Amino acid sequence: LAKVEINLSEVPEGKHQTFTWRGKPLFIWHRPPEVIESAKKCDISTLRDPQTDEDRAKNPEFLIVIGVCTHLGCVPIPNAGEFGGYYCPCHGSHYDASGRIRKGPAPLNLEVPAYEFTDAGTVIVG
Ligand code: FES
Repeated sequence: LAKVEINLSEVPEGKHQTFTWRGKPLFIWHRPPEVIESAKKCDISTLRDPQTDEDRAKNPEFLIVIGVCTHLGCVPIPNAGEFGGYYCPCHGSHYDASGRIRKGPAPLNLEVPAYEFTDAGTVIVG
């Protein structure tokens, strides 16, 4: 089945790693405390696709999103853009540290796939 098991020790604190899931890039970001704090502080009433950081990251240390821009499907660049998250260079969509769309043409936040932490060091996506 299309599940993938990821050992989170491959993603040290502060780092972004790209994996593959169902033929798509899967981004995992081990967010440091200051990034988590800024993602939680966001006023969601100002968002195009309102979701809290808690809605998007069950374990706030690890943001897990599909690396496909919700505009026309390019692969955004992690650790880039004006909102401390991801930037899609195709038409200039900026996503924040929670993968939420903040500026540019993309209509929706980066998709969060189904996943489960089996223990502190392992996540199964799918
Ligand atoms: Fe990402 Fe258009 S595909 S901004």
